[in-house]
Amino acid sequence: MPFKSPLIMQAWYFASKHHKGQLYPGEDKLPYLTHIGAVVFELLPALEEKAHLDGTLALCCAILHDTVEDTGVCADEISTLFGEATAAGVAALSKNKNLHGLEATRDSLYRIRQQPQEIWLVKLADRSANLRTPPAHWSKDKCHSYAEEGQVILDALGEASPLLALILEKRIRCWKDISELPDASFEKLRRQTATQDIVALLGHALS
Ligand code: NI
Repeated sequence: MPFKSPLIMQAWYFASKHHKGQLYPGEDKLPYLTHIGAVVFELLPALEEKAHLDGTLALCCAILHDTVEDTGVCADEISTLFGEATAAGVAALSKNKNLHGLEATRDSLYRIRQQPQEIWLVKLADRSANLRTPPAHWSKDKCHSYAEEGQVILDALGEASPLLALILEKRIRCWKDISELPDASFEKLRRQTATQDIVALLGHALS
């Protein structure tokens, strides 16, 4: 499946412009694009596994997935620049701001499930990327509830990608494990940079 690189590149510049100045949560104070890149890199092996899928749609949605929710870009602009399928995917990946917590997640998952599988993969890759090492200011309770929410995402969408489902499952297990650590061990662990992989840190085999 050939990628339409010029369109993907255009999406990257668009996301760079709109996320400019935003930071990825954590002590490293990395630019927000670190997260966008991480989602893309989580996604690539899953696209290789499912070669019949539209890689351009998946990558454009991955790159743009937080622009509507976090930067105030409107879906019409995405549609004009990147097409209706990408705009619909990004809309489904964006939470309804009138809803909160698990209700907002379930609503977005319901809308993602109406979309093609490329969009399911983006959501799985997004959560997998977010379940690397927890941000330093997160409590054990917060880690536990974020892992539980990850399980809801995995249950709803996991069938779309055995590979992403496996990685997500391992990271969820690690987050639940660390949320049960004694305080001192948890404190030590959460000082690790959020860009490190919790699975490797805890020594859980990836396969
Ligand atoms: Ni995201």
